[in-house]
Amino acid sequence: VSAFAVRIAEWQERSGRHDLPWQNTSDAYAIWVSEIMLQQTQVTSVLRYFPRFMQRFPDVISLARAVDDDVLASWSGLGYYSRARNLKRAAELVTERHGGRVPEPVDDLMALPGIGRSTAAAIRVFAFGSRDAILDGNVKRVLARSFAIEGWPGTPAVERRLWALARELLPDGPLAGYTQGLMDLGATLCTRTRPRCGDCPVAGECRAFASASVDRIPGPRPRQQTPRRRAVFLIARDPLGRVLLERRPPSGIWGGLWSLPEFGSAEAALAACRARFRVETRAPGEGRPLQHAFTHFKLEMVPLAVRVSPSPGGHAAEPGELWVAAAALDEAPLPAPVRALLAREEG
Ligand code: ADE
Repeated sequence: VSAFAVRIAEWQERSGRHDLPWQNTSDAYAIWVSEIMLQQTQVTSVLRYFPRFMQRFPDVISLARAVDDDVLASWSGLGYYSRARNLKRAAELVTERHGGRVPEPVDDLMALPGIGRSTAAAIRVFAFGSRDAILDGNVKRVLARSFAIEGWPGTPAVERRLWALARELLPDGPLAGYTQGLMDLGATLCTRTRPRCGDCPVAGECRAFASASVDRIPGPRPRQQTPRRRAVFLIARDPLGRVLLERRPPSGIWGGLWSLPEFGSAEAALAACRARFRVETRAPGEGRPLQHAFTHFKLEMVPLAVRVSPSPGGHAAEPGELWVAAAALDEAPLPAPVRALLAREEG
């Protein structure tokens, strides 16, 4: 029997709460609703919503038959509304597939929207007295610190180790107190920032505490490497102060909008410019870049402003191009970052 589990169960017995409305019940539906509400919300907030929700939708079938908007209204203020939509949809599925009784098999639970492996385990432990390990975000932190498991817990290898550990640590006998204690420890003492190790029942065995690495474990989410692109945006102004714009291809970023001509380098931009116009600016140089984050990449937008005048061949706009007066730029369908780049180069 692991001393770790015993200490946590004792701590829960001694200092934990035993009178929450979803405790001391074996109503699997009530436990399920509470677990969904508790996923991203503190106990004190859930206490303000749970009783009303249960009064309004006292069982699976009443929730399954409810109007979506009524369910959302009852959730209003709890946040993360996909939880409410999933719960409602899951109630419909439980009605169809299981006659309105919350299923006990883990696969049946996990087949329901909003119920992952840890939530399924919590429902099974609290409602059916099963022998399952839980591992929510808070519990990951408790275990990672206690056993000095480095790295970000979202990494598959780290997560596998934590699940294995969670299973090994399960004490014999009833699991409800231990399971509740583990979650509460993570939510109240073993917090991400400023943990209260002085009050922790397992600080004596905590490997992160012993090596003063509580603030390093668990490791942070790795910085996502988003691809970076750099492009030179040509701001060519003619003697009337008009700016040359070009229409973007219909698909892709900024599809169909008007934008500045883009080049891979200042040299390429100038070469293209010189091929068509006389460049009056004596030493054209790159301006201050503007960073723009798209969902999938970051774009460094480098402005290159040049004064041009017609070469002997004239400087008519080619198809897909337009000379736009400064005063008309406000009305032009430009992407916001291009507009910002232009505004900056005005001043
Ligand atoms: N988070 C998820 N389930 C919980 C529970 N039963 N108690 C406290 N926090 C939780």
